[in-house]
Amino acid sequence: METGHILITGANRGIGLELARQYSAEGWQVFACCRSPENATDLSQLAAKSGGGVQIIPLDVAREGAIQILAQSLQGQPIDILFNNAAVYGPASQARLGSTQSDSEEWMHVFAVNTIAPLQLVEAMKPNLLLGKHKVVALMSSKMASLSDNTSGGAIIYRSSKTALNAVGKSLAADLAAEGIKVALLHPGWVQTDMGGSNALISTQESVAGLRKILEQFTPEKSGQFFNYDGTVLPW
Ligand SMILES: NC(=O)c1ccc[n+]([C@@H]2O[C@H](COP(=O)([O-])OP(=O)(O)OC[C@H]3O[C@@H](n4cnc5c(N)ncnc54)[C@H](OP(=O)(O)O)[C@@H]3O)[C@@H](O)[C@H]2O)c1
Repeated sequence: METGHILITGANRGIGLELARQYSAEGWQVFACCRSPENATDLSQLAAKSGGGVQIIPLDVAREGAIQILAQSLQGQPIDILFNNAAVYGPASQARLGSTQSDSEEWMHVFAVNTIAPLQLVEAMKPNLLLGKHKVVALMSSKMASLSDNTSGGAIIYRSSKTALNAVGKSLAADLAAEGIKVALLHPGWVQTDMGGSNALISTQESVAGLRKILEQFTPEKSGQFFNYDGTVLPW
């Protein structure tokens, strides 16, 4: 895939940081969004070594008006890949039934970050995507979004936010096809990050290498499908 411009949310740690690292190493211009640039030590080091290839942009995706400010600051800037990576897992209490009353406010926050913000980012950045060569939207979903894969239950808040994200992605794929914008729904694997935990099966390096390969070979026919990081199609 020819290099271009990629915007990544939640680029200060975990999978987002590795996305920034690998795309930058391949020569891409990276707009690395994070909510607290002043605390983003690893990302700041990457940016400092990148010779301008990695630009850090403050963005809390759930903050009122923040996405519009980002879009204004990047007006006229082509974006080839818009990578919606930022997410939250939500309260630990969702592992069991009996907490939905007390957790409803947190549930709304999880939806704001995981489901609504990615859609708003696509809406706000659509002019930038249309200026780009590749015109790809990546939505970081999770295998936990899969209804047919859900045999163990639990994690109702996180699961439902990602299932709803898949629904958003499926509609976007249809709505944006005529303008040449493709939408990829991605499961990164069970990855060793703060969210994935130390028992997770794969490194961020392995996950991101797989995700990049999927996007490299992305075609309009694949838009709206749900992919594992190894390229296999996941069931809804
Ligand atoms: N790790 C896994 O095994 C796994 C499996 C399936 C799917 N995923 C998905 O993969 C993506 C990355 O996960 P990860 O494991 O790298 O998670 P992580 O280590 O917990 O990192 C989450 C990232 O999202 C950012 N974020 C959270 N709320 C935000 C907000 N309101 N505005 C902007 N950024 C915000 C965090 O920023 P702060 O540092 O400021 O909090 C951080 O950069 C997520 O979409 C996750 O659901 C992960």
